[in-house]
Amino acid sequence: MSVIKIFDTTLRDGEQAPGFSMNLSEKLKIARQLEILGVDVIEAGFAVSSPGDFESVQAIANTIKNCKVASLCRAVQKDIDASYEALKGAAAPRIHTFIATSPLHMEYKLKMPPEKVLERIDEMVRYAKSLISDVEFSAEDATRTPHDFLAKAVGAAIRAGATVVNIPDTVGYTTPQEMFEMIDYLVKNVPGIEKVDISTHCHDDLGMSVANSLEAVRAGATQIECTINGIGERAGNAALEEVVMALHTRKPYFGVSCNIDTTQLYRSSHLLATITGTHIPSNKAIVGKNAFAHESGIHQHGVLANRLTYEIMTPQSIGLPTNTMVLGKHSGKHAFEDRLKELGYKLTTDELEAAFTEFKALCDKKKEVTDFDIEALVEHKSVAVNEHFRLERFVVNSGNTINSTAIVKLVDNEGAIHEKVALGHGPVDAAYKAIEQIAGMPLELNDYQISSVSDGEDALGEVAVKVKSGDRSVRGRGLSTDVIESSILAFINAINKLKG
Ligand code: KIV
Ligand code: ZN
Repeated sequence: MSVIKIFDTTLRDGEQAPGFSMNLSEKLKIARQLEILGVDVIEAGFAVSSPGDFESVQAIANTIKNCKVASLCRAVQKDIDASYEALKGAAAPRIHTFIATSPLHMEYKLKMPPEKVLERIDEMVRYAKSLISDVEFSAEDATRTPHDFLAKAVGAAIRAGATVVNIPDTVGYTTPQEMFEMIDYLVKNVPGIEKVDISTHCHDDLGMSVANSLEAVRAGATQIECTINGIGERAGNAALEEVVMALHTRKPYFGVSCNIDTTQLYRSSHLLATITGTHIPSNKAIVGKNAFAHESGIHQHGVLANRLTYEIMTPQSIGLPTNTMVLGKHSGKHAFEDRLKELGYKLTTDELEAAFTEFKALCDKKKEVTDFDIEALVEHKSVAVNEHFRLERFVVNSGNTINSTAIVKLVDNEGAIHEKVALGHGPVDAAYKAIEQIAGMPLELNDYQISSVSDGEDALGEVAVKVKSGDRSVRGRGLSTDVIESSILAFINAINKLKG
């Protein structure tokens, strides 16, 4: 059975989408998780685009040992040089160079005639190959490129030494059948294509990115480019967890496998959501809260009689935590540590100590502590930022016939205490106004989302906010059994990022 390579571009195509930018340490956490997940290639960034991107490609290249690390670059010498410099320390580096091949892009964006584009492909793939042996070539806007010209472009890249040829549906325009026909045409008409990997990179503008990627595989593609939770430009890219579980669940149909450890899918998805402060819709395929929940009586009855009636994959196969009580007030550190190990976490002694203290505090507030709670605690701790401010205490007075009042006391990293009082339209607004006075910087709240981590009245509430100050926009997250406290913690988390 042939093995399909999974090329993850969460840190490049995903990260460039609005609201998903990450700092260096956040990118490294995601890269390490992708390595554990078992992706074949991590696209770490676009080295030439900014010093920050260069630094993160370099840091990821120097850290990751078990997968290839790629950097994107236009088919331009200075871009390729930057990628090469950033990738030098990688165990398995890949230069990923691209140029548009559709008539529209060549005429209006590149202002280059088709013959010049073919020459440039030859020249730049050869140049990249002289630096690093693994070179991927992408024909941007491939799906709006006539088949015969695309075959010429791909052929030129292969003759110049490309090891992977990528056929992106850049604008999410194609349909599954068209994608099948395009790959099938290339397989039948490009000499030497059997010696390289054929890749696909589908955007989701019409909601067909996963279907298009799978049809590409049926036609002969051997690599799928995708992102965790489907993040990416505009409507995003094909979601890694969906592509992988489709291949896994319908293995006899597709007749291929991949190297992904599917039990790491849930964790990877939630880590990204925690880091970027974005909420995963409950009905999201594979990783949404309701993906394995059976609500209707008929379904519940069927599942009790035989799970296969309504369940095509098991929650365990994606590493979904259980929602039953696993630990409580009387559980000791060993039981806690064992549970973390079962959940796949390896913490240092200090991290374990800190997580255990939080766990004990949670046990005092919550009757039943589930795997979902433990994961949320550990993930929040793992993405903690340097604390410029820490919450000492707050008091909020609110009601439907009065203005809300909040008193918030914060301690800064030098131990100084700051306390302010404010009025607001509701308890969160009042608390945020008090904190804004303490922060001493203009703050604009652009997004606020709240969700519960598990079920029950005492569930942990998780708040994600997006806060803007000047031209910087950051996400913050807070977790507590009290939703006003989670809201305050999320706001302070965002301010700490802005101060950091
Ligand atoms: O969507 C696209 O075409 C891309 C390429 C640069 C691979 O992201
Ligand atoms: Zn893309």
